[in-house]
Amino acid sequence: MRVLTRIDIDRLQEGLRTKRFGRSIIFQKEVSSTNDVAKELAAYGAGEGTVVVAERQTAGRGRLGREWFSPSGGLWFSIVLLPRLRVPEAVPLVFVAGLAVTKTLRELYGLSVETLWPNDVLVGDRKICGILTEMNSTGEVVNFIVLGIGINANINVKKVLPEQLRDVATSLGEELGQKIRIEELLRALLEKLEIEYDLFLEEGASELLSEWKQYAAFLGHNVEISSGEEKFVGIAQDVENDGVLVLKLGNGSFRRFLVGDISLRVK
Ligand code: BTN
Repeated sequence: MRVLTRIDIDRLQEGLRTKRFGRSIIFQKEVSSTNDVAKELAAYGAGEGTVVVAERQTAGRGRLGREWFSPSGGLWFSIVLLPRLRVPEAVPLVFVAGLAVTKTLRELYGLSVETLWPNDVLVGDRKICGILTEMNSTGEVVNFIVLGIGINANINVKKVLPEQLRDVATSLGEELGQKIRIEELLRALLEKLEIEYDLFLEEGASELLSEWKQYAAFLGHNVEISSGEEKFVGIAQDVENDGVLVLKLGNGSFRRFLVGDISLRVK
């Protein structure tokens, strides 16, 4: 698959229907991690909605300190957010991003993508997008948040990703059988992200979460949760408005898991 990654920022911004997101875009061929660049810009006062996008990352990061493989052909970008929120109130932002990506991929390509708690987007049981939110706060007050989104766009998963990811990852190009236009995808994502983010800031997490749950195929199914050394198996019962996952264990009791150092696998 020949890669098609060039993004014409002027052309992207010409048709962009947002007020803040993507009004300032920094495009680089190669960075360590777009999250790192965006954090630095935010620390120097970058405005809300500033976007950093790179053709490839040499040290892309995932949740739980995992490496995120980011070769040319993917869409790797980060947005600076400056919400007036206290730290716990910002937790649902991962669902804002998951919902915006899910809706965009469904609308643009008609793909049956689904959400997986807390912040993955899947096609079937294969991951197509990962989301990493990183926060800078003073005590309980959020200074800024960097929302990093990685989408396997024009990537040949079997050729380019390491062996251990080949059966658990997929890409838009492979699902659709054709290359996609990265510029068009990024524009649509920025528009949807701004809409969902503003709705969350105005109305809170309740509507957002109930919409997110409509795409959460894992709910009602058997899952395994890994939390440090511990593993829990049970039925994923619900996701509450604060982002907590409720698991029904085999003995009928319920256990609640905070978004944090936890990973979930559908069994
Ligand atoms: C995960 O699934 O664990 C999250 C992956 C997030 C990857 C994106 S790519 C753009 C941004 N820069 C990074 O280093 N990580 C995020």
